[in-house]
Amino acid sequence: MIYSKYSTVIIGSGIAGLYAALKIEQQVNLPDGLLLITKAKLGESNSRYAQGGMVAVMKDNKSDSTASHISDTIKAGAGLSEFNAVKFISENSDAVVKDLLKFGVEFDRDENNNFCFTKEAAHSVRRILHAGGDATGKMIEQALCRKVHENSNIEVYEQTDAVDLLVNSNECKGLIVFNSETQEYETIYSSAVILATGGVGQLYKYTTNPAGATGDGLALAFNAGAVMQDMEFVQFHPTALAFDDDENRFLISEAVRGEGAKLCDADGVEFMSKYDERKELAPRDIVTRANFNEMSENNVDNVYLNASCIDSKKLARRFPNISKKCLEHGIDISKDFIPVAPAAHYFMGGIKTNLKGETSVSGLYAIGETASTGLHGGNRLASNSLLECVVCAYSVAEYLKSLELKTPKQFGEEIKLILDRYSDEDLVLDELDVQSLKNKLQNIMWDYVGILRSQNTLSQAIEKLEALKNEFQRDYKCLSRDEYEFRNMLTVSQLIAHCALSRKESRGAHFRTDYSQTNDECIHSNISKDNWIADKEKDFVK
Ligand code: FAD
Ligand code: SIN
Repeated sequence: MIYSKYSTVIIGSGIAGLYAALKIEQQVNLPDGLLLITKAKLGESNSRYAQGGMVAVMKDNKSDSTASHISDTIKAGAGLSEFNAVKFISENSDAVVKDLLKFGVEFDRDENNNFCFTKEAAHSVRRILHAGGDATGKMIEQALCRKVHENSNIEVYEQTDAVDLLVNSNECKGLIVFNSETQEYETIYSSAVILATGGVGQLYKYTTNPAGATGDGLALAFNAGAVMQDMEFVQFHPTALAFDDDENRFLISEAVRGEGAKLCDADGVEFMSKYDERKELAPRDIVTRANFNEMSENNVDNVYLNASCIDSKKLARRFPNISKKCLEHGIDISKDFIPVAPAAHYFMGGIKTNLKGETSVSGLYAIGETASTGLHGGNRLASNSLLECVVCAYSVAEYLKSLELKTPKQFGEEIKLILDRYSDEDLVLDELDVQSLKNKLQNIMWDYVGILRSQNTLSQAIEKLEALKNEFQRDYKCLSRDEYEFRNMLTVSQLIAHCALSRKESRGAHFRTDYSQTNDECIHSNISKDNWIADKEKDFVK
């Protein structure tokens, strides 16, 4: 085992991790340096695939206000958003957008050099900045990756997975990483470990998320004793292109509906007015259930999006990547219907944090999609995620500025036990067909813990996941990245299923066919290793 030490370690190179690295390097005293580790190539992440844009409530945009954005976010959040988090993130959007520009990020502008704003579902005004038409995530991420590459004070480990956190008496003192190319382990001591490990889409058979979205940070934090919040809230996007790529489904951005496209059946009959007066621009959970219902009632695999009402030149300019991807499947979006179906897209739950990124474990921080600040509540408003990533990265850097980041010197018994798990050279592990285990898990989650849930489906999921765990035969140490990912997927799936079973109501993206009402009392679910909801009938641990 190799040993090293850093003042701060960031795990993940999506927009949250990259921007945090740049801000921390700029502002924080780092006697032992700064390390960013990422399990694939730098920048490979959900962030890269973000299309629609990033919310920006700019001070000089007279048609918008933070009050309006706060109100839209809270309405979409189905009563579960935290007002302070919404306000903080909204009020900081002007500052972070201006700061991103300094790091070389360019958003689309009109002929007068003013920002172009688009609209997405449940936003009352046009307030969403985009870049490269429909390649917002890629454009932001590439600019930040360039800056990280140029910065010799930020050390980067690629192809390196965080596999465990070193926690003693509820204090995080570092982590263990596994290099999937060399198969080597390294112990890294650090007084600040920041999880920016993204979402969980890969737990589901159909998802818009790329291969790496396996919930690793959530599993690591849970096993380290951190409190997790609202784990039952998974957002399903209503319009993923209904063709399977290797590992995910390509997204047809909500901004296409924002620009006027309509949902319809194979005969062109529009149906959204049956479900909500806001039709295609109703909150995402409502449109998703509408599509799902139409598909189930008509026993078909998809519905359609008709964008032919949008000027064809505008379509090509605003949505170049969507146009290109559809053409690869023989679909000209200026005249053909686009086959679409719901897919797992975003995780509203996560590691419970405050607005400084602190988790319930001292020295362990979480930002971006893996964290639950309370911004999104039960249903995320479109394009609020990228904003949350940058605002929270900014604020964790601000907070670390006030600390003395001394690398820990004393390690207790608990940490020695964790290290032993990975240094046991005699441990013999049989080869496993991990891909087949992943497929089984994804089917269980889609069929039983998906868009519509019930006591019956969730109880079955819990049993089936337990059986998969027995089949997996690994406790801690694994043989490969795939195995580590599966280990984490199992933990997170079990948490989602248990929390979904315990929430006996429907709210936002969590819909129970056996409890379709929304309760008057609106509570977060909190779960931790010490407060595991083992008893199905037990109520939430508040
Ligand atoms: P990610 O960008 O997912 O980055 C996570 C990083 O952590 C990755 O680099 C990953 O490799 C690394 N990692 C994970 N586990 C480990 C480990 N064990 N060890 C080391 N590294 C690890 N949101 C919007 O606001 N607007 C949009 O328009 C939008 N469009 C979207 C379109 C698509 C197709 C998708 C999938 C999402 C979209 N979202 C959008 C959501 C948004 O992109 C994500 O929520 C956001 O980018 C998450 O950023 P992040 O930095 O938290 O995580
Ligand atoms: C989209 O472009 O539809 C995705 C936007 C988001 O997830 O915020």
